[in-house]
Amino acid sequence: MSKVSQIEHALLSHHITRIRDVNSDTTVFRQSMQVIGEILAFETLRTLKTRSEAIQTPLTAYDGETVSESIALVPILRAGLALVDPFTRILPEATVLHLGMYRDEQTATPVWYYNKLDDDLSGMTAVILDPMLATGGSLIAAIEELKTHGVREIRVSCVIAAPEGIQAVAESHPDVEIFVCEIDSHLNDSAFIVPGLGDAGDRYFGTTP
Ligand code: PRP
Repeated sequence: MSKVSQIEHALLSHHITRIRDVNSDTTVFRQSMQVIGEILAFETLRTLKTRSEAIQTPLTAYDGETVSESIALVPILRAGLALVDPFTRILPEATVLHLGMYRDEQTATPVWYYNKLDDDLSGMTAVILDPMLATGGSLIAAIEELKTHGVREIRVSCVIAAPEGIQAVAESHPDVEIFVCEIDSHLNDSAFIVPGLGDAGDRYFGTTP
């Protein structure tokens, strides 16, 4: 079973209510998603490994700690792009690798259209960014692709997840740690998360569903 960490923070509740609200326009949706993304980044990256680094403060020598892992942020297009800015604000040295896929409307299975992974990712920790985890099909496809490139460890950052999707990922990739803000009730007959927020990509980019 994957480790699933649910994040709790008053500001998360506040801003997730804003992005769920059908009356929130693109401006509000984007602003709230940025705050959510920063909190999600802090929590997902909380346990990164560090190494000792001896530095000099203006007053004296100091034995500090700096992040020792090489991080690849992996947004799943399109909606995952919404989380790239907040994550790179927290970790500006991270590599960003893009994966493009959309869900076929009839089958709810992922259809690939872009893959910008480096050939050899051995030694890297990948953090997959996607606000929505519904059936888990897109995430499982991304995890499997990353594993073929040799990543050392995979973490997932999502905002809203369905129990069905969490279970699917946990069963197929129990080594992957999932960080999620809110776990919703269920998927409807069209495999949309309920209560959810609709289509995150359309709402973030202001496009018509
Ligand atoms: C949404 C979402 C995830 C995926 C989740 O993307 O951002 O990538 O669906 O569904 P799953 O867990 O059932 O695979 P969508 O296909 O709507 O593409 P978009 O981000 O371009 O809008």
